[in-house]
Amino acid sequence: MSGQNPVTSTKTWANRWTFLLAAAGSAIGLGNIWKFPYIAGQYGGGAFVMLYLICIAVMGIPLLMAETAIGRHTRHSPLNAIRQLTNELGASKLWSMIGWMGMLAGFLILSFYSVIAGWSLSYAWQIVSGGFTGMTTDQVGDAFGGLVSSADRQIFWHSAFMILTFAITARGIHKGLEKGLQVMMPALFALLLIMLGYSMLETGQFMRGFEFMFSVDFSKVTGEAVTAALGQAFFTLSLGMCALMAYGAYMPANNSIPRTALNVAALDTLMAIVSGLIVFPIVFAYGLEPSAGPGLLFVSLTAAFVHMPMGEIFGFLFFVLVAIAALSSAISLVEPALAWLLERTPLSRTVATIILCAAIWFVGLGTVFAFSGDFTFTLFGKNFFDLLDYFTSNILLPLGGLLISIFAGWVIKRSTMMNELGLSVGMFNLWRAMIRVVVPVCVLVVVITTIF
Ligand code: PFF
Repeated sequence: MSGQNPVTSTKTWANRWTFLLAAAGSAIGLGNIWKFPYIAGQYGGGAFVMLYLICIAVMGIPLLMAETAIGRHTRHSPLNAIRQLTNELGASKLWSMIGWMGMLAGFLILSFYSVIAGWSLSYAWQIVSGGFTGMTTDQVGDAFGGLVSSADRQIFWHSAFMILTFAITARGIHKGLEKGLQVMMPALFALLLIMLGYSMLETGQFMRGFEFMFSVDFSKVTGEAVTAALGQAFFTLSLGMCALMAYGAYMPANNSIPRTALNVAALDTLMAIVSGLIVFPIVFAYGLEPSAGPGLLFVSLTAAFVHMPMGEIFGFLFFVLVAIAALSSAISLVEPALAWLLERTPLSRTVATIILCAAIWFVGLGTVFAFSGDFTFTLFGKNFFDLLDYFTSNILLPLGGLLISIFAGWVIKRSTMMNELGLSVGMFNLWRAMIRVVVPVCVLVVVITTIF
């Protein structure tokens, strides 16, 4: 294994579970719990879920393996990983675009991600302090409107979340990430199971929610739905922006990349499906609209917590855990840019983290003001938040994924990837055919239809 990563003096994760935990921590976040249900709701349920599952299987898993393998092979920050490989292979310097685009995507995504995670913190606080007690479902909906129309409240919670991100990131991979994740991820899963129990037993609408998610109406399989499904698949698996490449740099040499990739994809998909199965029965039980948009999770679950015994406690725990899941993803959104700053500048980890987080916080104000109505700028009918979300998930990440797949399939030596992946020849050839042909062609078709 060549090279040493100067990010920390101890280069690899403590044991073989930690990479899985960290990669799952990156993958599982607001994308699963907040975004998946609301996008599935907007694109008609089953049709979207089917497209999303196809994208995960056909493009997500091969790319997940490619990104991790590149990171582990070079043991550098993504940008320098690509640079090292292009130097070694005498390939064009233009490939380093992958690293730049990844840093930009992470930066822009975190700017709005933090605002939504801030909503979650705000909900945790409001629920436990009795702010929703006795409310009707309409009042719960109005309360959401109250939060998003208040710039001050959103700035407060957005700032709180960015400070948490800073605090964990600044401590480095061992002290910051590993310890926290070992407790947070299982706790989140346990709470989701409790909520799933509620949706199954108490709403009386479980079957309706289930059908909404799994019965496919083929008239809803539109170009727009395909673009959204691809974007969501990349977003939810943290693909296309080198986040897992950055984490792969810390992965022990004896971990199996294919097995880990399958586990991460399976856990991530399970979390999204469970979130949908929690949200939709509640949505139907309380007469809400599946296509309500970004407020869907907040309004529907809060309506349920208001009616549930010990709803204050469950509600508080739920929204805290959602914020924590967001935190473990946020760390990986900063990582590519941070790792690069540390390799390239004399800044200390703390100072580099402060500078990055402050800049991201500042851009996040654009999203806050777009929701609160103070920033009325729109383009193609989309406000600042919609534009960022669309540009990152539907353009930057797929484009990044396209370049990574071509780079991994056509530029990097076959033997290098074969060593890293450790697959049998037959399975390796299958992976290589997917990454060389299937992934680029599919992504290209979707990206071109999206842009034009
Ligand atoms: N995968 C995260 C989620 O589903 O919430 C979001 C994310 C994290 C996207 C890291 C991209 C990334 F690199």
